[in-house]
Amino acid sequence: MNLRYRKTIIAGNWKMNLNEEEARQFIRQLKPLAAEARWCDVVLCVPFLQIPAAVKAARGTKIAIGAQNCHYEPKGAYTGEISCGMLAEAGVKYVIIGHSERRRDSNESDALVNKKVLAALQFGLRPIICVGETLEMRDNDVTLDVVRMQVKTALRGVMLEQLRRVTIAYEPIWAIGTGYTATAQQANEVNSVIRQVLRDLYGARAARAVSILYGGSMNVSNARELLAQPDVDGGLIGGASLKTESFAKIIEAANQQ
Ligand code: PGA
Repeated sequence: MNLRYRKTIIAGNWKMNLNEEEARQFIRQLKPLAAEARWCDVVLCVPFLQIPAAVKAARGTKIAIGAQNCHYEPKGAYTGEISCGMLAEAGVKYVIIGHSERRRDSNESDALVNKKVLAALQFGLRPIICVGETLEMRDNDVTLDVVRMQVKTALRGVMLEQLRRVTIAYEPIWAIGTGYTATAQQANEVNSVIRQVLRDLYGARAARAVSILYGGSMNVSNARELLAQPDVDGGLIGGASLKTESFAKIIEAANQQ
């Protein structure tokens, strides 16, 4: 929901999709539509190799470019990795950290997520920290405990003055890429618990300034209802961010809240 004290953010997560030309074309088409999004920030988290072309295409527009991962060390013998300093130098503003696909496929732990968050902040990037439960956890009624712990661990060592650059995305794992979406009530319940954690750690004022997104099969038909929830401050969108038309419609829905 659009509130004066925090931003609404619509972030696309392209995952391992779209080549350089497709990325350029996407941004070209999105430009005029993004310009009308007065009430929300638009972010595209693109594959590493598409970053230079995307940054160039998005120059002078409202569209910020994000990465989908980073390493926590500034440099060194880490074959195949990309540092936060390199991302910042390339013009990246946001970086997704702890996406469930990385937690699943690359064994990323909450402790590793925390290291990456600290590194991202140190280099002036805005981390989008992903948290969320499996279906089994939800069935066992431990969702809120799991998410609380994920958020607390991810933010260990993050200072109050750094918090305003942090975004959190609640992404129930069972809803990612499955077509199943959390109901608006489920999304809002978890997001408000996340805000409570932030309140306990940083105080009410700082907590209310943090944008907490929902992600997991958000699309043109369910975006409006999800985004109308008081603690849903935007979306992290996979599948529906691959086509300009659907992504633009979600931006429009966010802008009208
Ligand atoms: P989805 O992906 O919208 O395709 O479910 C969301 C995400 O993984 O961030």
